[in-house]
Formats: sequence, structure tokens, C-alpha cells
Amino acid sequence: MIEIHIKAIKRGGVIMDNKRDQWGTKLGFILAAVGSAVGLGNIWRFPYLVYENGGGAFLVPYFFAIFTAGIPLLILEYGMGHKFKGSTPLAMERGNKKWEWLGWWPSITAFFILGYYSMILSWAMKYFTLSFSKGWGSDPNSFFYNDFLKLTDSPFQFGTVIWPVLIGIILVWGISWFICYKGVKGGIEKLNKVLLPTLVGIMIVIVVRGITLEGATLGLNKLFTPDWNKVMEPKVWIAAYGQVFYSLSLAMGIMMTYSSYLPKKTDINNSAFMTAFANCGFEFLCAIGVFAILGFMATSQGVGIDEVVSSGIGLAFIVFPKVFSVMGIWGTILGCLFFTCLVFAGLTSCVSLVEAVSSAIIDKTGWERKKVVSVIALAGVVMSSTFASGAGLYILDIMDNFINCYGIVVVGLLEAIVIGWIIKPATIRNHTNKTSYFRIGKWWDFTVKFITPTMLAIMLISNFVKEIKTPYGGYNIPELFAYGWSVIALGIIGALLASKSPWRNKAIEDFKEESEEEVV
Ligand code: TRP
Repeated sequence: MIEIHIKAIKRGGVIMDNKRDQWGTKLGFILAAVGSAVGLGNIWRFPYLVYENGGGAFLVPYFFAIFTAGIPLLILEYGMGHKFKGSTPLAMERGNKKWEWLGWWPSITAFFILGYYSMILSWAMKYFTLSFSKGWGSDPNSFFYNDFLKLTDSPFQFGTVIWPVLIGIILVWGISWFICYKGVKGGIEKLNKVLLPTLVGIMIVIVVRGITLEGATLGLNKLFTPDWNKVMEPKVWIAAYGQVFYSLSLAMGIMMTYSSYLPKKTDINNSAFMTAFANCGFEFLCAIGVFAILGFMATSQGVGIDEVVSSGIGLAFIVFPKVFSVMGIWGTILGCLFFTCLVFAGLTSCVSLVEAVSSAIIDKTGWERKKVVSVIALAGVVMSSTFASGAGLYILDIMDNFINCYGIVVVGLLEAIVIGWIIKPATIRNHTNKTSYFRIGKWWDFTVKFITPTMLAIMLISNFVKEIKTPYGGYNIPELFAYGWSVIALGIIGALLASKSPWRNKAIEDFKEESEEEVV
């Protein structure tokens, strides 16, 4: 019975793999891909990066990076997933047997990222509820670290369980579980179709209110006034490539997994451009909103922008609550809207991470989606609960740094090298061009073979040199080993082990027939 169910059905010369999930529409796929790309990085990382790296002048390296790395790599990942019809490890294995492990590494890393991503979402949910009463009080800084997180003195001191954080983490995992349990079309696509437009709508409200605040222009001028000298600095270019890479969720296995659910005739090249531009547009929107609000803050306190500007967790959970507190009723409204944005932007990314992990395991084991997703969610809750302690913020800080500086960069670098030099870019280019309205030329091969690896190699070396000179964040070596290097090592070891075990999903065998057919 099962055999019959799994076996691909041949109709009119087309093999229909009736086991693999599929998107309902191309728009659904693009929304989901944008949903993964649009995340906390757009909201709290990009605005600061522009400000710090030359303002308006930063747009030159930024767009250069989008065209020479962002879009080419998106096409590459979409092309791999679509051509080889598999989760990241399966697509890599089908591209070249020896490189299956390179597909497992990001899948394992995705699981670790979920550990802290779910925690940040849990904080954002809690802050959403606090927004109504401005429950962070008159000193948001001390509230956040002491009252809310009960931060201990060092990463090895766990303190007590932080219940509100733990409950939030369970909630986030519960939602992600439910969405992925429902499948690609019935869960992920539906979620993104609702959350993404809502997210953009809310952000537009924030921006409109933001730019009409007193002092907003001060912030916007600071943000966009170009400092052309910065364009000469290599570190600015590295930052631009880093942001594009991070913001488009590249080298995490997400885009390959998502594109493997596309029907055969899909315009891949066009989808890549749309994803990149949508993400980039949202990034700009966020930058305008954030800096308008910071401009208001600086004006109302009579200080310079430099004194209020910040990014990341500090911006969302300390500086913005301070702004909302001085604003009256609009503070309450903006607070609720802002934390809703964080939650929505984060949830769609969370779901994409869970899907990347699940898809790989489904392909490998042949287990039912429902079973795989449930096991991952349970394991995830257990793993994430270590974060719901007084040391959570430290663990997050170290892990995030190592995953971003080494994990993602090395995977991206190897991905470009393996596809550029072993699988050969023409394999993918010919495939995507076949189904795309506008065709990509040889320039694309050049970016995959040379430009992307060069930039990533420079990024990697500069991160490493920095790390050797001054270990990250003032932590000591055992701490960095425990939460940083170990995550990288576990990712690689786990990936090598996973690639040793055989593929048990019967549906996979059908692909061979299909690829042979394509060759004929
Ligand atoms: N793109 C996300 C952001 O802008 C961050 C991110 C990087 C991510 N890699 C990812 C999110 C993988 C989900 C999956 O915030």
C-alpha cells in the first residue's frame, strides 16, 4: 500500500512526485521566501548599519552587494532546490555526492538559531503586552536586564528559570509546530499570506507617524546624508556584503528548501529579483521609521542623534521603550505596533527555519511530516529552555556572533565554491533559464565563481583576525568555546555523521528517473 502511495505516478511523460509538498501559487512561494528574509535584521540591524557606514553613501556598496552576491546567490539557491527537488542536504547530494554534509551543516545550525530566535520572539511578545501599560517603568534599561531577564554575572551562572520567557518560548514553538505540521501550502503559505501584508501595513503606519513627529527630519538627515569617504573603507564593503547575505537568509538552507516545493515551470530568475527587491524595500521602510523615531527622541531630550542611536536588542528593548514612555497615547500605540512587527517578522523566519530542518529529516528518514515536525518542536523546546535562564542573553550573544561570523560565512563560501567549481554554474544557469522569462548570462557564472567567494573569504579572514586579537565581547575563552566554537564544531560533526547514514525516503528514488528523462 505504502509503496503504491509513494511511487511516483507517470502521466504523459511527466513524473509526478506525489509525495513532495508544493506551493499553491508562485506568489505564495515568494511571500514565504520574503517572510524568511524579512526578519529582525531588517528592523534593528539595517538602519544602524546605514547610519554607521556612510549614510546615503552606504547605498553604493549595498546595491553592489545585492547585484553581485545577493541576487546571484538567490538564483543559485533557488536553482539548486528547484533542479534537484530536495531539502538542502538532498539537493547538495544530488549535485555532488561528496557534498551532502554541506547541506546538513546549515540545517543543524538552523536548529541552534531557533534556540535563541524563539527567545527573542518570546521577549517581543512579553513587551507587546507591557506596551499597554508601559510596564517597563521609568528605567527600561534596568527593567530589561534586572527585572525581566534576571541577568546573572557570567554565561556559566544560570540563575533561575525565567518563567515568562519560558512560556513565550513554548508558545513560539507551538505556533511554529502548528504551521509546519499543516504543511507547505496549508500552513506556511497561508501564514505568510496573512502576516506579511499585515507586517508591511503596520510598518507603514509606524513610518507615517514617525516622520510626522517633531525632530524626525533630524534623524532622517543623519541617516541619509552621505559620507563618501566611507565608501573607500573596506570594512564598509564587508558590512554591506554581510548585511545582504544575512538579510536574504542565504546559506541557511532555507531558500533551497522553499524552492524545492515549486512546480516544474516556475520563473526562478524573476522570483529571485522579486525576493531581493521586496526585502530591500522593507529594509528601507524600517530604516526610515527607526530613524524618524530616534530623531524625535534626540530632539525631545535635547541631545544629538549619536547619543540615542543603537541597534539590535538595545534598540528594541531599551531605547524604543524609553521613546514610547515619553510619548503618551501614541507611545502606547506605537509600542504595540512595533512589537507586533517584531513578532510577525520573527515568526515567519522561525517557521522557515523549522521547515528547513524538518524537510531535511523527512527526506532522510522517510518519516511522516507530522511526526518529524513534532519531534523537532519537542527537542526545540528542551533546547530553548536553557535560554530561559539568567544566562540566556549571554548564550544568545555568543552563539549568534559565531553563527553569523563563521557558520553562515563558511557555508556560503563553500556553497559558492562547490557550485562554482565542481557542480558548475552552467548546470544551474541552464536550468533556471529554461523556465525564466529573462535569462541570466555568463556574468552570473563569474559572480558565483569569483566575486562571492572572494568577498566571503575576506569577510571570514577579517572576522577571524578580529577574534584572535580581541576575543568576542570580552568573554573568556571557556565561555566562547562552550557556546560559540562548540556550535560550529557540532554543526560540522553532526553534518558529517548525518551524511553517512542512508536515505530512507523511497520517494527520493523517483528523482533519478526524472533526471534521466530530462537528459534525453
Ligand atoms: N534574514 C533574517 C533577518 O533579516 C535573519 C536570518 C538570517 C534568518 N538567516 C536566517 C532568518 C535564516 C531565518 C532563517 O532578520
